[in-house]
Parts: sequence; structure tokens; C-alpha cells
Amino acid sequence: MQVSMIVNGEQVSGEIEPRLLLVHFLRDHLGLTGTHWGCDTSNCGACVVWLDGEPVKSCTVLAATASGHEVRTVEGLEREDGELDPVQRGFTECHGLQCGFCTPGMLMTARWLLDRNPDPTDAEIREAISGQICRCTGYATIVRSIKWAAAYEAARREAATAD
Ligand code: FES
Ligand code: FES
Repeated sequence: MQVSMIVNGEQVSGEIEPRLLLVHFLRDHLGLTGTHWGCDTSNCGACVVWLDGEPVKSCTVLAATASGHEVRTVEGLEREDGELDPVQRGFTECHGLQCGFCTPGMLMTARWLLDRNPDPTDAEIREAISGQICRCTGYATIVRSIKWAAAYEAARREAATAD
């Protein structure tokens, strides 16, 4: 079957088997391997992308279901001016990753959270990432990374209003 969707702002299409999962369409058909595939049980969350602006585990969505919709992956987080998104910077500043396998999904959830809640508490961050597993960090540095991004963005907003 034919599918078409907008991925990271670009119209894409492909000829696929109806059973193909979105995670495999992104990785194998579009070469967007930033989205990771970490389990067969819908538990790990390494595959989180946005579907019409909402985080979804792309291993639980058929590519056919996403057809006609808008998808954003971790490759789409980078800003138009080439700058890293503040959540990406936060993860590098605060050592929010070790092996990095969970990181794409964590970044997508982090960006989604800060877009809705610019000053989340530790508990709110932990709630937001509760569907995602990190085998390495113990989560403390992930929470710290997201708080770093929140503080960075707050400072930029303050600077912009002072201008
Ligand atoms: Fe593990 Fe999707 S690959 S939840
Ligand atoms: Fe290794 Fe999270 S950094 S799984």
C-alpha cells in the first residue's frame, strides 16, 4: 500500500506492507535512524516520536495509521538556525546520557513537556518520562538535564523581554 505523511516538515511517501510499524518506516524507508527500536514489548520508549504533536511509541503505531498525519522525530528537534534544541544541550551539559539508546525518546518527551509546562517539578518530569526506560543513568541526570533546559529557556525569555 502507499502511505504519505509529513515528517520533520517534509512530505514523504512510500510503498509498504500494511503491517509495517511506524518505527520501521522511519528507520528503514526514510533512513531516520535517530528513532531507536529497543524492545518487542512496547515497554522501553526508545521509539518515541510525535504524531500530530503528541508523543507516541512508534512501535505501537502502524505506518498506515500515520499516513496523512504529521510526524516529528529527534532529527527534527534541531532548530532552523542549526542550533541544538535546549533539551539536547541540557542532556550534554548534565550528562543525561551514557549509552544513548534511550536518549531520542527522552528528548522528544522532554521537548513535549517543556512546550506545555516550562517549569516542571522533578515529579512532573518523572511522570512525563515514566513510560520510558533508561538502563544506564538512574534517571537523576535525565531529570537534571530537563531542568537545565527549562532554566536555560526561562533565562532566554527573560533576556528577550528585557530587550
Ligand atoms: Fe520499545 Fe517502542 S521499541 S517501546
Ligand atoms: Fe543508556 Fe539511557 S543512556 S539506556
